[in-house]
Amino acid sequence: MKEAFYITTPIYYVNDVPHIGHAYTTIACDALARWHRMLGKRVFFLTGTDEHGEKVQKTAVAKGLSPRELADQVVANFQGLTPALTISNTGFIRTTEPRHYASVQDLFRKSLANGDIYLGDYEGWYCVPDEAYWTALQLADGHCPTCGRPVEKRKEPSYFFRLSKYQKPLLDYYRKHPAFIRPESRRNEVVAFVEGGLNDLSVSRTSLSWGIPVPGAPGHVIYVWYDALTNYITGLGYPTPTAEFGTFWPADIHMVGKDILRFHAVYWPAFLLSAGIAPPLGVFAHGWWTVEGQKMSKSLGNVVDPYEMVRKYGADAFRYFLLREVTFGLDGDFSEKELIKRANSELADKLGNLLNRSLGMLGKYFAGVVPAPGPSEPPDAVLSNCGRETVPAVAAAMDEVAFHKALAAIIELVTKGNEYVQAMQPWSLAKDPGKRARLGTVLYNALEASRVAALLMAPFTPTAAQKLWEALAPGGGPVENARIDRDGAWGGLAAGATLPKACIVFPKIETGA
Ligand code: MSP
Repeated sequence: MKEAFYITTPIYYVNDVPHIGHAYTTIACDALARWHRMLGKRVFFLTGTDEHGEKVQKTAVAKGLSPRELADQVVANFQGLTPALTISNTGFIRTTEPRHYASVQDLFRKSLANGDIYLGDYEGWYCVPDEAYWTALQLADGHCPTCGRPVEKRKEPSYFFRLSKYQKPLLDYYRKHPAFIRPESRRNEVVAFVEGGLNDLSVSRTSLSWGIPVPGAPGHVIYVWYDALTNYITGLGYPTPTAEFGTFWPADIHMVGKDILRFHAVYWPAFLLSAGIAPPLGVFAHGWWTVEGQKMSKSLGNVVDPYEMVRKYGADAFRYFLLREVTFGLDGDFSEKELIKRANSELADKLGNLLNRSLGMLGKYFAGVVPAPGPSEPPDAVLSNCGRETVPAVAAAMDEVAFHKALAAIIELVTKGNEYVQAMQPWSLAKDPGKRARLGTVLYNALEASRVAALLMAPFTPTAAQKLWEALAPGGGPVENARIDRDGAWGGLAAGATLPKACIVFPKIETGA
């Protein structure tokens, strides 16, 4: 097993405020980063902002700011996601940092030197008021697809990346690395696209000024995707041969939304191959959220603000809903009603309830001191076997990046735990002094199921999991320092430890109904 793990979010445009889409990718990456740390790996987790380009320039002009001033203001909203959503990123990159200029220009120079970047003419349909080029396919009835005004054919000198040359190397790479593009259905789409032939790609503009200058070519700035994608190596110190770069490159997973998969799975590996740098090991494309059945848009006024969700429901419940609700990779529908339902029925009524009833009885019958378990009876084995199977089931789900499966397996364990308590009726056992040892065993098992669940929930609901862990593994330190293999073994609950009488980590969300 590789001892290092490198995961990235896309870098977010600073022409807008964060919404559920940004929160989603970042939370998914965070769950994976936390999981891999708990496997004992060193993890580098990079996120950041994409600050160049026409959109930012225009938004800035509209606000009477310079693009840099706008970026400096908006970046705080994205950096604020880290504490608000309990994100454990280890790096944050802004494409306007000098280190990124050095990195992009170095990569560019390498491909310029070997002839993979050459000067040509870029021709397209230009919307003068919007200052934007469109391809014939993008036009709406021959007009600008965003403002509807007429367009004119224009030509400007541009540097091109020889993408056409990389058709075969890319197809070879996909063949040799079947897990490079996930999910599988997306992989097939990308392969079909590349098989259809690749055009060379315009990677600079003279009509744009807000960007990284092309080295040695005054008037040209590097066009958005070449600039943006390179963030993933800048974040590790490229072009300096740092220890970080040596340890963490190639990236294990670039997590992206389905709309930007092609840039990551086609352009990015080609840029890297050209520069003699290993392509990433994986790109995972997730689906999109609609909101209450509708496309999310500013004009509909239904944009979900992650900060507001955290204020209303807490980061744990929001994170849980996003990763539990849909098959990761497919589209999903966001609804606060459904979020409340899931949080109440699964986190409060199942996970919280198992822990609290067990702690309550432990307090009542054993003064809070964990008894040593006695001989196992058949119903105990049903629960302990489930506990033993849950850990590898979650591990397999996380390997597949199937958060929904991992969470379903954890909820299954606590459901079994509650059924076990119901069937064993510890409150009846407590009435018979001759059954005291049996009572101890039953409570031990119920608490042990909670402990294993708490450990496994740590990547998903980190704040609640920490509280659960403090209750069940007193003195055990932060749950993020726990290890899945060591601490996930059934029977890890320490006999003799004193546990609190209650631990409310998932209060019911009041619906007002
Ligand atoms: N700056 C580029 C990425 C460059 S990466 C080298 C960009 N930025 S973005 O801010 O527009 O988008 C960021 C992410 O949000 C994308 O992965 C996109 O898929 C995701 N989402 C935008 N709307 C979304 C939903 N409604 N649902 C889920 N994710 C969505 O693209």
